[in-house]
Amino acid sequence: PKEKGWIGSYIYNYQGFWISPRLLQGAIACQQQFQAQDSDIFLVTNPKSGTIWLKSLLFALVNRMKHPMFEPNHPLLIKNPHDLVPFLELTLYVDGQVPDFSSFTTPRLLSSHLPFASLPKSVQDSKTKLVYLCRNPKDTFISMWHFANNLRLHHKDTNSLEKLFDLFCKGMSVYGPFWDHMLDYWKRSIENPNKVLFLMYEEIKKQPKMHLKRLAEFLECPFSIKEENCGIVDEILRMCSFKSLSNLEVNTTGKLSTGEENKVFFRRGEIGDWKNYFTTEMSEKLNNIIEQKFQGSGLKFSYI
Ligand code: A3P
Repeated sequence: PKEKGWIGSYIYNYQGFWISPRLLQGAIACQQQFQAQDSDIFLVTNPKSGTIWLKSLLFALVNRMKHPMFEPNHPLLIKNPHDLVPFLELTLYVDGQVPDFSSFTTPRLLSSHLPFASLPKSVQDSKTKLVYLCRNPKDTFISMWHFANNLRLHHKDTNSLEKLFDLFCKGMSVYGPFWDHMLDYWKRSIENPNKVLFLMYEEIKKQPKMHLKRLAEFLECPFSIKEENCGIVDEILRMCSFKSLSNLEVNTTGKLSTGEENKVFFRRGEIGDWKNYFTTEMSEKLNNIIEQKFQGSGLKFSYI
């Protein structure tokens, strides 16, 4: 099945989720070719959940011995996090390319927006660790709408907030349905907590130190007491903060290797911006869908 809208061209339903033809080619290529290593670390998100933030935290955390925070040419100061932790289907295998992994160091830091069941088999079956980041649906939707407008990926007649909201509510967002994506990772994080760590954007915002330490423990590279006393946890959080990343020259003027302007990934970086756009009716409609879809899951969102 195909549906017009959201990004201008048709989006197709493939293996139960919605994807554009270009990304579909990348998804199929990585499903067929990618060989996971047990030491790989994958960051998975629904688009616009704060992927770039977690990429920066992940990179800084895992590479903190190789690249100490005070290093003047720290990769995070001169490269966009999407170039440091590339997407499998969106960057490495995009258009069916065959990527060269020879420059990657161990552990390889990679990312994807694919639903769990559509990840390459070797990622699912190996000891590869998956970090899943979710964000409340209202802020995610508003962020998606702005992003789609910024990239001008769609025709003028399909970009109204109302039209895209209607598609989002029907589950037709890129990589959606939003809820199926999230619920499956949530379930797997409960069943197999050594394989999947489930994080929430809002919780990291509210208790950043606690969640960064949780991430370090999950990845089996916990902070030592000495590191904590030296303030390294705070230093990583400061370096990866919205203010600090969004003001770097690379992120104000640079472009990704795939051509997008780096600045489109930094907008407001806050919880609750949805209130500036949602009508009461929209809010109630989404509340009802969320209540129905997430009933009994134990997953609760924070909207402020
Ligand atoms: P907003 O559009 O609500 O501002 P993704 O990386 O998945 O594309 O998500 C982008 C969203 O994360 C954008 O949300 C962006 O502003 C926000 N973001 C980017 N860097 C961030 C940071 N360091 N801290 C918090 N949010 C950040």
